[in-house]
Amino acid sequence: MRVVVYPGSFDPVTYGHVDVIRRARRITEKLIVAVAKSPAKETAFSAEERLDMVREATRGLDGVEVNLFDGLLVEYARQVGAEGIIRGLRALSDFEYEFQMALTNRKLYEPIETIFLMTSESYSYLSSSLIKEIARLGADISSFVPPAACRKMKERFGK
Ligand code: COA
Repeated sequence: MRVVVYPGSFDPVTYGHVDVIRRARRITEKLIVAVAKSPAKETAFSAEERLDMVREATRGLDGVEVNLFDGLLVEYARQVGAEGIIRGLRALSDFEYEFQMALTNRKLYEPIETIFLMTSESYSYLSSSLIKEIARLGADISSFVPPAACRKMKERFGK
């Protein structure tokens, strides 16, 4: 594929997301990591902070661009000429939500294909909420998130 979009809230970006980004690069010429400006869930970090963390985590990766998007994902994908949407699958529990999103997106914009990539098993248990929870309680999160996110979390949660 020439262009694919990897959307998410990235609140914050984790090594699990970076793993998906690295895998996705193998199947596309250009990967646009699309950070949702106002996702449905409340975020701990502003859109610009989430964007900066993803940018720093992906610096040096050829063919990867990181942007903010607002509104419908399929509309953004259409505007940037993407042929596919990448989503990472960690466990069976992700499937129902992802299936619903993929079919809704297809209904909204038929030409777009959702592609699921399996996260490496070493990251399959990670989630941004869990990482925020343990960071608030003072745990060392440096093995879960890239340095930029680790720094931001320390600033935010003071540990
Ligand atoms: N490693 C670690 N964690 C991962 C992961 C991986 N490989 N893949 C997903 N996750 C985690 C995320 O950290 C996040 O955890 P959290 O819920 O604890 O915060 C969770 O899985 C899912 O987050 P994410 O992948 O960022 O997706 P999302 O559900 O937050 O984002 C959007 C969904 C933004 C893509 C979707 O809401 C959207 O497209 N919005 C735009 C509006 C629209 O078009 N809506 C219609 C959609 S059908």
